[in-house]
Amino acid sequence: MLLKILIWPFLLNLALSTISDFTYNGFKGANLSLDGMATLNSDGLLRLTNISKHEQGHAFSTIPLQFKRSPMGTVISFSTVFVFSIVPEYPMFGGHGFAFVLSPSMHLFQTLPIYYLGLFNSSNNGNSSNHIFAVEFDTIKDLEMADIDDNHVGIDINSVISNKSASAGFTSDDDGQFKKVKLLSDEPIQVWIEYDGLNMQLNVTLSSLGKPKPKIPLLSSTINLSSIILDHMYVGFSASTGMAYSYHYILGWSFMMNGKVPELDISSLPRLPRAMTSSKDKTGTILMWLLLSLSVLVLMAAAGARMIMVRKNRFSELREDWELDFELHRFSYKQLYNATGGFKDEFLLGVGGFGRVYRGVLPGTEVEVAIKRVCHESRQGVGEFVAEIVSLGQLQHRNLVPLLGYCRSEGELILVYEYMPNRSLDKYLFSEGESTLGWSQRFWIIKGVASGLLYLHEDCERVVIHRDVKASNVLLDGDMNGRLGDFGLARLYDHGGVPLTTHLAGTVGYLAPELSRTYRVTTNSDVFAFGVFLLEVACGRRPIEPEKAEDLQVLIDWVLANWRKGTIKETRDERLGEEYVAEELELVLKLGLLCSHPLPTARPSMRRVIQLLHGDILLPDPLLN
Ligand SMILES: *[C@@H]1O[C@H](CO)[C@@H](O)[C@H](O)[C@H]1NC(C)=O
Ligand SMILES: *[C@@H]1O[C@H](CO)[C@@H](O)[C@H](O)[C@H]1NC(C)=O
Ligand SMILES: *[C@@H]1O[C@H](CO)[C@@H](O)[C@H](O)[C@H]1NC(C)=O
Ligand SMILES: *[C@@H]1O[C@H](CO)[C@@H](O)[C@H](O)[C@H]1NC(C)=O
Ligand SMILES: *[C@@H]1O[C@H](CO)[C@@H](O)[C@H](O)[C@H]1NC(C)=O
Ligand SMILES: *[C@@H]1O[C@H](CO)[C@@H](O)[C@H](O)[C@H]1NC(C)=O
Ligand SMILES: *[C@@H]1O[C@H](CO)[C@@H](O)[C@H](O)[C@H]1NC(C)=O
Repeated sequence: MLLKILIWPFLLNLALSTISDFTYNGFKGANLSLDGMATLNSDGLLRLTNISKHEQGHAFSTIPLQFKRSPMGTVISFSTVFVFSIVPEYPMFGGHGFAFVLSPSMHLFQTLPIYYLGLFNSSNNGNSSNHIFAVEFDTIKDLEMADIDDNHVGIDINSVISNKSASAGFTSDDDGQFKKVKLLSDEPIQVWIEYDGLNMQLNVTLSSLGKPKPKIPLLSSTINLSSIILDHMYVGFSASTGMAYSYHYILGWSFMMNGKVPELDISSLPRLPRAMTSSKDKTGTILMWLLLSLSVLVLMAAAGARMIMVRKNRFSELREDWELDFELHRFSYKQLYNATGGFKDEFLLGVGGFGRVYRGVLPGTEVEVAIKRVCHESRQGVGEFVAEIVSLGQLQHRNLVPLLGYCRSEGELILVYEYMPNRSLDKYLFSEGESTLGWSQRFWIIKGVASGLLYLHEDCERVVIHRDVKASNVLLDGDMNGRLGDFGLARLYDHGGVPLTTHLAGTVGYLAPELSRTYRVTTNSDVFAFGVFLLEVACGRRPIEPEKAEDLQVLIDWVLANWRKGTIKETRDERLGEEYVAEELELVLKLGLLCSHPLPTARPSMRRVIQLLHGDILLPDPLLN
């Protein structure tokens, strides 16, 4: 018995050290452990995910490889080459990418899809006890994860926030020019990852399939992996999808410890199911060709003329050359017309301050969208406005409503947003009929909106002031997360710049008092509106209700009066009954008052608001002067 115990680790070691390389030209008969969406087809093609939303898939070699000879030792050199292909169902809607991974375990449970790529979750992302090394191939630009663009390769250590990343491509050996490689295409791409343990140098190189390996790596980095990599690690792949989704395929893979990896035999790699999209959904391909030919047309036309205007009798559209930057995000009027059955009333979701909002399904896809028609009078400044809106819409955060694209026609700007199935928050707060929200849902939505606003104020490259925070601009997604929408009024400011506007935009009842004097919108005036929003959610009523008795008309005044009397909790939405957490309710109400303090300097920053909401710091006691 004792002998068995003593011998076992020795045997295990022996068994483990026997495998140090493998080559799979296609994965027929391969020793792989698959989970999640990952499947292997009869041709030996490995598919990590299909086009199910919010899913992940993993594939690992079933036997771990030895990367170190002793726990404190240096990492043994390794090299690997593989061929992958990321096939989106529709050219514009692909995501989220995949990663090559070294992991202490082949069972990555409790990991999240979307931008965590099936490698981490929100609590362990960045934790050094993960011992995960990955090279990511990311097809979504997520600013929260500090992504540089929506087509990049990154070196990830214990976190999806890359240590180093670069736009996908290669430097041509012929002319020394950098050639872009599009990850989201159905073309197979070949990748080499090499680590030199002695010099601690990591190189990542890619090229189109069939081309020799370029001499200059795309990414080259000196990294001491010895505290990250454990003695034995599983090697494999992980991929994920979100609202956007792609098929992630691996066609072949070769790995070698301590030596130069053998090249793959390209002729024996399995074929991609090319016919897939067309046989399943012909219109999808037609749409793709339409889009392709459209952009080719535009490019051709742009070369000839500085300004292009395509006018048709019915579908008149405007196009200028600056818009080429946003070509991917541009929809044709016809597409949107068809998506909404010709902007019929039965598709109408609502009428807002800026125009009408319709629900639609993009032709040839099953993508549900909300389409907003914004009327504007003059053409002057519209270009700038659109450029701003579109770049704002690219901000990705789980508490913001994503903009998918836009279309411009005379006197009208049409914005296409991701559809939020649970509509806007005010429907739940103010309408009699709708089922009401419980306290825990309200508190969750509040925290979400706060983090979305913090992101706009402090965490993206430029300070973004929303300018119109209110319950009707908070939309609820399928999981009842609150998401800030309608950046129609928002304007961009550089950090440190002094924003000055000549006319007041926003909604009465939410406008900070100083605005009527200074016309100067600041993050502080957003905080004011956020304060009013907190009161709306807790009290279930609008900020100003003129039909009420005088002392009840203005929400802030009424809550303030109750706070002075020591009866602040009585102001809660009566539909909550006794089903609420008293401390949280009190916190939200008092914080609402603090945020909507008449003195801008007395209001907390959104960062402080988050800390207060999460109980990391306590609300200051002398709340108001
Ligand atoms: C798979 O592993 C088994 C032993 O675990 C080995 O006999 C077999 O050769 C391996 N297959 C391949 C293709 O490496
Ligand atoms: C993706 O694969 C999973 C499991 O293999 C399956 O349940 C699901 O229906 C597939 N989704 C699509 C959209 O084909
Ligand atoms: C994240 O993953 C770790 C395991 O790596 C697990 O212990 C933890 O509970 C997970 N957290 C969440 C929020 O799922
Ligand atoms: C990292 O993970 C370990 C183990 O799961 C945990 O004990 C530790 O608190 C985590 N560290 C941080 C900073 O979250
Ligand atoms: C790079 O990796 C190290 C681990 O080696 C980590 O501690 C560090 O925070 C990372 N840096 C960045 C910028 O991500
Ligand atoms: C990485 O690339 C550099 C530059 O081409 C090269 O000198 C070095 O030998 C490469 N290292 C590895 C581990 O391939
Ligand atoms: C690499 O990291 C390990 C563990 O942190 C350390 O012991 C070793 O000295 C480092 N090597 C070099 C060359 O810095």
